[in-house]
Amino acid sequence: MRQPRILMCPPDYYGIEYEINPWMSRLRGAARDRARGQWQALYDTLTGLGVTIERMLPQPGLPDLVFTANAGLVYGTRFFSSRFRHEVRARETPHFDSWFSTHGFTVEHLPEGMYFEGAGDALFCGETLFAGYRIRSDVRGHQHLASVLRIQVLPLELVNPHYYHLDTCFCPLAPGEAIYYADAFDAYGRKVLEAHVPRLLLVNEAEAARFGCNAVVVGKTVVTNTGCEKLASELRDWGYMPVAVELDEFLKAGGSAKCLTLRLDGEEAASWARPA
Ligand code: ARG
Repeated sequence: MRQPRILMCPPDYYGIEYEINPWMSRLRGAARDRARGQWQALYDTLTGLGVTIERMLPQPGLPDLVFTANAGLVYGTRFFSSRFRHEVRARETPHFDSWFSTHGFTVEHLPEGMYFEGAGDALFCGETLFAGYRIRSDVRGHQHLASVLRIQVLPLELVNPHYYHLDTCFCPLAPGEAIYYADAFDAYGRKVLEAHVPRLLLVNEAEAARFGCNAVVVGKTVVTNTGCEKLASELRDWGYMPVAVELDEFLKAGGSAKCLTLRLDGEEAASWARPA
């Protein structure tokens, strides 16, 4: 049996201190105690599913460090460190790099002058890496990964500022299966997805806005924020077990379940991480 491992970072210094996506409002802020309880509920849910959680040390002044999905891309024991578009998040990189280099990974950096926001914008479905670009990551970063890893990378343009990272609107469930929110993509992106993922589960506008696509997949269990009932019932029809954890304090920063995690042993849908 495969032992899932996930990196998380407690929300000790979480808050809305700047605005780099349309969900964030400094005026409204976030309630740290409530955030702490919600983060713990996600942590407990995942450990209850048999996941080993690695905890990073939170850092003052880095309110978004909780979103470990953006640390970089894990590929076996290689860690491709992110190059954040916004300086406020680029300060997280030394902390992520030092965690990975002291935990058995080789840390690699993309050449300067390209942006790449890790698993937030790069998700394997089968053998293919689906890569979101324009709002945060750019195409050159993805092309670089395609050439060093010698894998197929399919760039998907993100056209809706509310769905600024690919993991806010697309979630691979297994090779050939994914959930997605169509309006986050242009017509060409939708065609690419339809052509390469045989089974697509469409999320409606209301549940996309509850971050239904920002799901953590562990085996056949799919963990999302609350308020995604239609998605949950369709997941059940597809043979999955949906689990809801209230994460609305993190929605205020434009994040949810998936953003708060980074799978260290490869996502469930990544062919390279599956036993042959
Ligand atoms: N406030 C963070 C940002 O805008 C949220 C990141 C959410 N992470 C994700 N993988 N979608 O960068």
